[in-house]
Amino acid sequence: MTPAPARKMASGDALAAGLPIVRRTDDLRAAVAPWRQAGHRVGLVPTMGALHDGHMALVRQAKADCERVVVSLFLNPKQFDAAADLARYPRDLAADSAMLAAAGVDLLFAPETSEMYPNDFATTVSVAGLTDCLCAKTRPGHMTGVATVVTKLLLQAQPDIAYFGEKDYQQLLVVRRLVRDLCVPVRIAAVPVVRAADGLALSSRNVFLTPKQQQQAPALYHVLRTVAGRLLAGGDTATELAWARTALLSAGFDKVDYVELRHGNTLAPQAHTEPQARLFAAAWLGQVRLIDNVPVC
Ligand code: PAF
Repeated sequence: MTPAPARKMASGDALAAGLPIVRRTDDLRAAVAPWRQAGHRVGLVPTMGALHDGHMALVRQAKADCERVVVSLFLNPKQFDAAADLARYPRDLAADSAMLAAAGVDLLFAPETSEMYPNDFATTVSVAGLTDCLCAKTRPGHMTGVATVVTKLLLQAQPDIAYFGEKDYQQLLVVRRLVRDLCVPVRIAAVPVVRAADGLALSSRNVFLTPKQQQQAPALYHVLRTVAGRLLAGGDTATELAWARTALLSAGFDKVDYVELRHGNTLAPQAHTEPQARLFAAAWLGQVRLIDNVPVC
């Protein structure tokens, strides 16, 4: 099947010319199958839209590795623990599709919620030890929502390689493990965090930061970097993690969900700095929750 040319979506937003869109699994598979038959590698970049240069780094890597690149755009209700957060999540389909068209993406998969979750949808994917710690502690259902939708997207698109950013490091590990455990035939590629010049990790939620919060937000990265340096110099883990919480509050953060030292492959808590140790943090500036992570090496 030849994907439909650019056309109006149900929302009324025009898609950028030259970016074909499919909304149903059958149509996605019909578009991808001939590419695979022709021996083309297919890359998938899963997104929830509100694209920024962090997403485009995934697309660029996919374009470098694969002859064909599919981007999925689905604002997944299952990974939002608060209805208000889902309601206000940024949406800009016109800008997103223009960026994807300019980047040479071959196909946009933008399913309706009913396509992803029909009324009798009953399956949840969880990964013991990975979908129940860090972000999952303060955002119940978030990580299983991610695991469930990513499993479905991988099975729908059946790409050779799927791309995930290291900014959402817990998500990356969850996806790697479910792919391994369930023998999903795909390679998971990790792409480094894209940061603004001041160190702030790019995130769709950054648009909600006030000018003052924009100045405060980079402290998340800088505090993590400082703690990583001190741990490597022999600092005591509990003391340094406690200092990080205080430093974030002093820098203007309103609440700290966690600052933790964990193993970079298993997410097992680390009492001491060992090879593969990684620092993870989530903290709030007003209504905006930011996450970040850095290796301790
Ligand atoms: O990282 C995201 O944008 C989302 O968690 C993902 C992987 C697209 C699943 O909804």
